[in-house]
Amino acid sequence: MTTSATGSSDTGPLTFPEGFLWGAATAAYQIEGAAADDGRGPSIWDTFSRTPGKVRAGHTGDVACDHYHRRSDDVRLMRDLGLAAYRFSVSWPRIQPDGSGPVNPRGLDFYDRLVDELHEAGVTPIVTLYHWDLPQSLEDRGGWIARDTAERFADYAAIMHARLGDRVETWTTLNEPWCSAFLGYGSGIHAPGRAEPELAFTAVHHLLLGHGLAVGALRAGGAAKVGITLNLAPVIGDDPVAVSLVDGLQNRIFLDPVLRGEYPADVVERARRFTDWSFVEDGDLETISRPIDLLGVNYYTPQTVAARPGEPASPVFPGSEGIAFGGADAPKTAMGWAIQPFGLTDLLVRLSRDYPGTPLVITENGAAFDDEVKDGAVHDPDRVSYLDAHLRAAHAAIEQGADLRGYMVWSLMDNFEWAEGYGKRFGVVHVDYTTQRRTPKDSALWYRDVIRRNGL
Ligand code: NOJ
Repeated sequence: MTTSATGSSDTGPLTFPEGFLWGAATAAYQIEGAAADDGRGPSIWDTFSRTPGKVRAGHTGDVACDHYHRRSDDVRLMRDLGLAAYRFSVSWPRIQPDGSGPVNPRGLDFYDRLVDELHEAGVTPIVTLYHWDLPQSLEDRGGWIARDTAERFADYAAIMHARLGDRVETWTTLNEPWCSAFLGYGSGIHAPGRAEPELAFTAVHHLLLGHGLAVGALRAGGAAKVGITLNLAPVIGDDPVAVSLVDGLQNRIFLDPVLRGEYPADVVERARRFTDWSFVEDGDLETISRPIDLLGVNYYTPQTVAARPGEPASPVFPGSEGIAFGGADAPKTAMGWAIQPFGLTDLLVRLSRDYPGTPLVITENGAAFDDEVKDGAVHDPDRVSYLDAHLRAAHAAIEQGADLRGYMVWSLMDNFEWAEGYGKRFGVVHVDYTTQRRTPKDSALWYRDVIRRNGL
């Protein structure tokens, strides 16, 4: 991974290519609430968040932003911000409360109406099928450790396409399968909370198989555009062994099978002490590498690594003994993530170089800060400058040849930040969780102008 020396400090006007798609993103469990309404079944995040000690302050997604009941107001908010696109995820346990078999019509109706309202508001829907809320009953049958879950995911994809395919053009299968595998099964930081490094690799494979099978199901239904969203991070450091190990486990373990039809040989070799890879069956990689129309990129911060003998392995990167993480000399967001916009340029340029032919969309980028409402306004200059700098970095990548088609800010509104609960605010719209009042932050008004001008 190459890195440039500095971030973009340019402050002049910039125009994005014509037709560049401007949007905002959310995910079902993070905003919907209504966890027991209209026949929704439990998901692994309901179980996990109710397990003491798993989520900060014991927060759950039971109510979240109450978007399930405030859908129409939230769509009006999107219209007022001038969003051209809205990326949301479907809650699988609303559609199939048991993860397979009978479909819950009231769950489907919710997304049906959401899609109609979005179109009426002039906002293009982009659907993510899986943003981490696996139906609990599928977890009870092995979750992503069971090969069968991949097949069930494809069934669910077909159900969703049959209902929404006439009005939804762009579909992404999985959101950040790295998190599902390495946080969910490898380290237990996320649901379902299993902490066995070898399981992370099994989960990676079954998630990817689910992706490939779902691509097949969506295509069979006639879907126009299909892709996957990955959390990718350029890896920065002086030690080539550390850089390549982390790049392999974070980036190439997903990119190579999806876009080249093979797992990277160095990753396969290094992971042999955890797994014999016997879960990979003949034909799987052909399924996983079915052509896609877009790659969704979620970018927040690079990974900075250094060789440090004696350092224990990071729980989220199995086999990373002797590698120290972090330590970038840069300002940080409230998540403690270093603000390094140049990483986005490097990443997009690298993707277009190493994996040519797949259009890119930034499906998430944004920052958490400790925002407060004062006199009806939220002044969040740090977020504005984060977004401004990252948009400049994205623009620089386009100038260097990256085929970048759109940008979705994370997030439309403050929401349930997984193991961090509600304490970390990523929204451009502030949510008061007591009153459910939405207050567009300065960054939302700034973003509205960016969209209007198609640039900075
Ligand atoms: C990535 C995830 O997709 C999203 O759910 C999460 O809230 C953001 N990153 C911020 O951590």
